[in-house]
Amino acid sequence: MNLLTQLRSLFEPALTGLAPDRAKVPDLLGAIKPAANADNGDYQANCAMALGKQLGQKPPEVAKALVAALPANDLLEPPTVAGPGFINLRLKPEFLARALQEIATDPKLGVSPAAKSKTFVIDLSGPNVAKPLHVGHLRSTIIGDALVRILRFLGHTVIGDNHLGDWGTQFGILLYGYKNHRDDAAFAADPVRELLRLYIFVRKQAALAEGEDEEGGADNPVMAACRAETSKLHANDPENVALWKSFMPACMEMLRPIYERLDVKIDHALGESFYNPMLAGVVADMLAKGIAVESKGAIVIPNAKGIVPQTPEEQKKEEPPAIIRKRDGAFTYTTTDLATIKYRAETWKPDAMLYVVGAPQALHFKTVFAQAKRWGVDGIEFQHVQFGSMLGADRKIFGTRKGGALELMELLNEAAALSLQKYEANTAERRSFGHKIYEAEASEKQEIAEVVGVGAVKYADLSQNRTTDYVFDLDKMTATVGNTAAYMQYAYARCRSIFREGGVDEGVFRTAPPAVTLPHAAERALALHLLRLPEAVEAAAADYAPHLITAYLWDLAKATSVFYEGCSVLKADTPELKASRLLLVDLVSRVIKQALELLGIRVVERM
Ligand code: ARG
Repeated sequence: MNLLTQLRSLFEPALTGLAPDRAKVPDLLGAIKPAANADNGDYQANCAMALGKQLGQKPPEVAKALVAALPANDLLEPPTVAGPGFINLRLKPEFLARALQEIATDPKLGVSPAAKSKTFVIDLSGPNVAKPLHVGHLRSTIIGDALVRILRFLGHTVIGDNHLGDWGTQFGILLYGYKNHRDDAAFAADPVRELLRLYIFVRKQAALAEGEDEEGGADNPVMAACRAETSKLHANDPENVALWKSFMPACMEMLRPIYERLDVKIDHALGESFYNPMLAGVVADMLAKGIAVESKGAIVIPNAKGIVPQTPEEQKKEEPPAIIRKRDGAFTYTTTDLATIKYRAETWKPDAMLYVVGAPQALHFKTVFAQAKRWGVDGIEFQHVQFGSMLGADRKIFGTRKGGALELMELLNEAAALSLQKYEANTAERRSFGHKIYEAEASEKQEIAEVVGVGAVKYADLSQNRTTDYVFDLDKMTATVGNTAAYMQYAYARCRSIFREGGVDEGVFRTAPPAVTLPHAAERALALHLLRLPEAVEAAAADYAPHLITAYLWDLAKATSVFYEGCSVLKADTPELKASRLLLVDLVSRVIKQALELLGIRVVERM
């Protein structure tokens, strides 16, 4: 039950009545929005200006006519017209009260399934295995997982697929290291550790700089030997393929604890290697269909203008073509992605494919999507759900700065340790104010540290508009006040402590919610906010933008704290008011918990 949708459908017939030629007026329904200033009402309909222009009438007159044409309803107080033709809308308290009771009995808190259930394939995480996982893949994992959860919550079928980089040049390094420098006993005892040691050892031997790509070290004999191993692997050399197979379980084992710790489960992990057997077929088919051509021994798909730039001048001026088979016979990232699209389209018949991958790959996806369409994969919405970079405090790309890339596990450890420190400080401060404090056991403190620390890292990432770069600042992320995970988790725990303190069985609210009354402005504002979860979730899904959910949570947390300041709950004046306020507290806790869950963030019952 989305309030905004309900209001828009009230206006729909009135708008059509006044403007039969609706197509000519820009998005009139979109001009109905939450009010920027609560003093003016709950929502505002700003359709009269555009409509007045089209009809050649004064906007305030049009606004009055619109109001008069609204159907009878029990949602709204009589709307008022202000200024140049704004229509201010205020919901009736009885409507708010009833709506709250309704969401109380709804496990989805008022969020209804999408009108049309679609099938999404979401490409997320995509780490390059056999390398220590880099913080760069963190954003894809966190944002991708949130999108999986949000779209599923709206009733869509979602297939998460981890397009592992499990066939790349890094295996040349491992193969070379294994063949020349392995310690058999160490490999037998702990293959994960031994492979990691070999990887680091060979890179050092090849003098590759920290963060430098495996394509580096062009004139380095060690890297040349590594590359020769990769080529043999790709040419199906039996020894290298057998070794690759024996390395893979250890590589996957390196990743497992991180996904576990992040609480991310991905349905499939069909990596690059899975598509290897299909690549020759992709190239042959593209050639046969005339989409790809031969150029200087390579097979390429001409650029968008149909050109394969040949002369140096052309090469400077024109966009490059996409190479799908290099002169030496090697297939490319593009070939693999084309095979992947075809496989996914045939296997899952999705309505949409989302790629949660960093912004630097924008051109790659733009061209791959266009080529897939030319190749005949149609009727699918392709989206590069791109995101900006994580920056260090020096505003350089995080992890490649000098001094070494922090490994993700260490980073999560740091976040947990810092969260614990802040939790202790917060508790000590409250104790010094004479507040009643819950004294957690050591093991419980560890759990709080983990839930808050991992939550902090995820929340900080998700609360950014994903397309912008952001500075990775552990201290800010783990702050206990502000738009952070900890603040929301504290807000949740506070609700729970009210129930413990008052000996309240909030379970009964889910079947028989008490009558709601909203005499105080702060409780009315909170009620309205609680009813806006569907708007936030639907908007986040429409734009693939989880930060719309954190923005919602932040406003909810603020409304909640104003409510606590103005309204006593356990000591409310009458039993009816107390019951009504307890229901609000219960809904706050449920909405926070649910919204955080959509972001993959957990809560604890006591903090
Ligand atoms: N492994 C790739 C990288 O690290 C990301 C994979 C993204 N998905 C895809 N289908 N290309 O850059």
